[in-house]
Amino acid sequence: MEELTSFAKRRGFIFQASEIYGGIGGFWDLGPYGVELAQNIKQSWWRHFVNRNFNVVGLDSTIIQHPRLWQASGHVDTFVDPMVDCKACKHRFRADHVAGEDTNDLDKLATALADKACPNCGEKGTFTEPRQFNMMFKTHVGPVEDTGSTTYLRPETAGGIFAQYDNVRETTRAKLPFGIAQIGKAFRNEITPGDFIFRLRELTQMELEVFVKPDEAEKWYEFWKQYCMEWVQSIGLKADHIRLHDHADDERAHYAAASVDIQFEYPFGFKELYGIANRTDYDLSAHAKESGKDLSYFDEETKQRYVPYVIEPSVGVERLLMAVLLDAYDEEQVDGDTRVVLRFTPEIAPVKIAVLPLSKRPELSELSREIFKEIAGDWRVEYDETQSIGRRYRRQDEIGTPYCVTIDFDSLEDKAVTVRDRDSMQQERIAISELKSYLTQKLS
Ligand code: GLY
Repeated sequence: MEELTSFAKRRGFIFQASEIYGGIGGFWDLGPYGVELAQNIKQSWWRHFVNRNFNVVGLDSTIIQHPRLWQASGHVDTFVDPMVDCKACKHRFRADHVAGEDTNDLDKLATALADKACPNCGEKGTFTEPRQFNMMFKTHVGPVEDTGSTTYLRPETAGGIFAQYDNVRETTRAKLPFGIAQIGKAFRNEITPGDFIFRLRELTQMELEVFVKPDEAEKWYEFWKQYCMEWVQSIGLKADHIRLHDHADDERAHYAAASVDIQFEYPFGFKELYGIANRTDYDLSAHAKESGKDLSYFDEETKQRYVPYVIEPSVGVERLLMAVLLDAYDEEQVDGDTRVVLRFTPEIAPVKIAVLPLSKRPELSELSREIFKEIAGDWRVEYDETQSIGRRYRRQDEIGTPYCVTIDFDSLEDKAVTVRDRDSMQQERIAISELKSYLTQKLS
């Protein structure tokens, strides 16, 4: 994990937020390559989950919503993690982590904690009774900070989707099944953030809420589970690093009747990457009741009225980015040297092409800049004319750039350049007039 964290920093993927002030637990910034990588992951998700499905549409709802929304959704009362303190050293822990039990049940946790030693000071029998801690960040809307103005930073983007369900259905004239997708920030005041960008207090979710006929919920649950499994592999996760984990009763979120995780094998073990849940009619019924607005659906085929069920595939961009980075990372021996290479798929690679003039001589720079202008825009292209060509290739390998285009003195005569493939390190001479279509075909 330390290696990954320092590599991600050194190569400009991920920086600690507020690092110059000593950092702030659970918050990380995306550096120049991290932001490109995240953008590509989000675009791929949108292409696969929205564009490829005629009955899925997008939404961008606000981070702060009416506080009654989170009352209705159950988050005010039940979006909690169990917390425990050590009376000896005053450290605070996630009770389920210290107990080694994946449960929210306080009695079970108290029993399991009785003979555990504090992971910080090593004392035994010094834990307080475990208690529930609400993870929503509170804030106030307007100038008066009283209970009437209290609201929350959204703990999931899904809430905004449910609140707009009826507007979307009506304006798009959607019939079941149909989905609403959203990418956006969510906030969770985790008791113990950590494992780099795995458990964050500010994260980016990509959520799809699919509204279905209740008796078809199981079918769609299976469908989206497979769809997610295929997509994560398409962006570079290895089949033997992912597995499905069905949730037991006490692992499920308060709104779910069934849920399954796609787990990824992180350096600290198999952990949740993607959650797929059957949220039943829990949310729409709760919001209908709290708001007084009828959110039932009239099925013109069967002439029945019912509240749709919801199937939800939900994933965090940062967790996924970390998994993609881990599975792309490779080291190999080349000429007695270690070559570090990130084997990103072309779709996901933060930089697609590097344009590398062999020397800084003006005649090469001029041609190289023309080539850069011709191909940049459609792709993220880097221009680099410093250091030896060998070192520049290695630098591009370390950020996972699939192709390097080298312009040498022969290029001035033969109007051709050398294209180097990241993985095979093979070089090919390509006419400048053919370069764009050659790269288009390679990167597609
Ligand atoms: N909406 C699912 C989650 O936030 O985990």
